[in-house]
Amino acid sequence: MEIATSPESVKEILSKASAPVGFVPTMGALHEGHLSLIKRSLAENATTVVSIFVNPTQFLPGEDLNRYPKKLDADRRICELAGVDLLFVPKAEDIYFDEDEIKIKAPPLKGYILEGYHRPGHFDGVLWVVNKLFNIVSPDRAYFGKKDAQQLFLVKKMVRDLFMDIEIVECDIVREPDGLAMSSRNVYLDPVQRERALLISKSLKRAAKMIMGGVYEAVSIKNEMRRVMEGLEIEYIEIVDRNFDKIDEVKKGDTIILVAAKVGDTRLIDNLWV
Ligand code: PAF
Repeated sequence: MEIATSPESVKEILSKASAPVGFVPTMGALHEGHLSLIKRSLAENATTVVSIFVNPTQFLPGEDLNRYPKKLDADRRICELAGVDLLFVPKAEDIYFDEDEIKIKAPPLKGYILEGYHRPGHFDGVLWVVNKLFNIVSPDRAYFGKKDAQQLFLVKKMVRDLFMDIEIVECDIVREPDGLAMSSRNVYLDPVQRERALLISKSLKRAAKMIMGGVYEAVSIKNEMRRVMEGLEIEYIEIVDRNFDKIDEVKKGDTIILVAAKVGDTRLIDNLWV
């Protein structure tokens, strides 16, 4: 596995690499969820590139930028063992130049609801860095998890709106055996909080059961989920179609049920694609 720290060396290495190129952008602290994206890229491409960059522009003031878990040695080993061809580990100054840069703005409607409402400007930073990373790596395919459903939607929209020639591959959520969705932020949870965090995936399981039983009304499903998650600080429970428009009735094959909740100081998101 080659390791590059500058955009120039990534371009140089990839100029000699075999196509197609698959790309897995990450912020590190890799877990099974990331590994599933990496494995999929390895299976579908001649060359797989993984980036590890804790992108400062997608964190709001007061968020966990400074304490975001960093495990570079372990991450490097995971990538090496998996068979990644190139690991890109830039520093902030390799990616961002000055205060007066051209910026990417998330779309005002779909970029400022739900996650974007609770974290205003977050998706500006995500799309900005993904755009830069795409321009550095020039992948044929890029792999994103369904857990960050709104991010996935917005990256797909950016690729379409800006005529980028990249296939965005959607990858399923990977869960711990007890149902907790894998997240780099799970390490913040103490054992009691970890137990309470299970209420999030339990509420989604309950929603799935209701839908299987023929209940499609969004209000009833959301109320029941709220009941299951009693005691957690819920930021939102929302039911949207795959275009991220709110819907009153679940439409099978075109619905995502989204949850964001805080357990202690840790903000967790999860969702169910119906
Ligand atoms: O999902 C993430 O880890 C990040 O938002 C991403 C896509 C790597 C951009 O920093």
